[in-house]
Amino acid sequence: MANADIDETNELVSFPIQRTCPFAIPPVYTKFREESPISQVVLPDGGKAWLVTKYDDVRAVMANPKLSSDRRAPDFPVVVPGQNAALAKHAPFMIILDGAEHAAARRPVISEFSVRRVAAMKPRIQEIVDGYIDEMLKLPKPVDLNQVFSLPVPSLVVSEILGMPYEGHEYFMELAEILLRRTTDEQGRIAVSVELRKYMDKLVEEKINNPGDDLLSRQIELQRQEGGIDRPALASLCLLVLLAGHETTANMINLGVFSMLTKPELLAEIKADPSKTPKAVDELLRFYTIPDFGAHRLALDDVEIGGFLIRKGEAVIASTFAANRDPAVFDDPEELDFGRDARHHVAFGYGPHQCLGQNLGRLELQVVFDTLFRRLPDLRLAVPEEELSFKSDALVYGLYELPVTW
Ligand code: HEM
Repeated sequence: MANADIDETNELVSFPIQRTCPFAIPPVYTKFREESPISQVVLPDGGKAWLVTKYDDVRAVMANPKLSSDRRAPDFPVVVPGQNAALAKHAPFMIILDGAEHAAARRPVISEFSVRRVAAMKPRIQEIVDGYIDEMLKLPKPVDLNQVFSLPVPSLVVSEILGMPYEGHEYFMELAEILLRRTTDEQGRIAVSVELRKYMDKLVEEKINNPGDDLLSRQIELQRQEGGIDRPALASLCLLVLLAGHETTANMINLGVFSMLTKPELLAEIKADPSKTPKAVDELLRFYTIPDFGAHRLALDDVEIGGFLIRKGEAVIASTFAANRDPAVFDDPEELDFGRDARHHVAFGYGPHQCLGQNLGRLELQVVFDTLFRRLPDLRLAVPEEELSFKSDALVYGLYELPVTW
């Protein structure tokens, strides 16, 4: 993939646009937003798409029902080679459905992630966080925080919500990592996808026979009452929740810890007053906007966005990253500022597909930051900042490893 920076020729910029600095947004986004906020870019398969970079326009794209998320459409934009083909092989994830079909898939699970439901999970999340810190303290230093803490915490949280046995989880994490890598080829993507579905289908079968007090058992019961259990749909739901719910949060934990260790004045703010952590979490979400591929959509009809006509059949990419750095909405957007009220960011998306797990994600991050820095007041990077390896080749931005000591 070409690294698109400011384009001095007349050639179109390639998308996805790779990040080269953990803090600054690639300059091409800013140039587009200032000069032509809806600009054409070229996708990995040579297809074209309109890249939308202003906050208001990004929200308008994500809320417009004529801009479809349905990746089963043959002319749906290919942002990640092989991804659409892999997705089309199985019962669809809700994230790729539109309108009534999407609502039917999302409605039964909304209450599982409500503010009230998630708040009730806090004591267990706290226990999980403390448990992994206890284990970490027994290890020889330095440790890779990503492996021993950032990935296992959200993985265990979502596994328990689903009612999935934690054994076999390493196997799941390994496969998911391959799937989330941008460079995995089409065959690899399909193979991993098939294997993960098989694993999930077995889990659904076990739950049908041995129900418990968990999300999956409740969905099975609901479907039974409504006339029949749709096993492939349930396997898809579990897989989506696992995929969407563990790596995203892990990346945010790593980026948050990295930010606070390299900018101690930020850490001092939440240490002095933990009631500021929720604001800090939203600011970190805004600042990093980790899903790098943007929300891609296909126009089912002619649509006007910000005075610009997008024609039926054209592809659109709403860059939530560029939107979250829009100075028309966020003062001094390139600054990571824990005093800012950033809750209206679009890092969780916007419109019908807005992140189902956002209450959970926020709570996990709050508990993690408060607990980690309280229990390890000496926590610090174990390597120079320049040696850290950032995920510029992945679908979701983050850090591959975070070596720390204390
Ligand atoms: C959807 C981001 C955590 C479950 C989304 C979308 C974004 C997003 C941007 C919308 C995609 C689109 O419009 O195409 C994030 C970030 C997280 C996070 C930055 C970091 C904390 C979670 C967690 C869960 C979760 C913890 C669940 C346990 C989902 C699901 C959807 C979704 C199920 C699909 C919703 C739908 O299509 O209706 N997420 N997410 N996410 N997220 Fe999250």
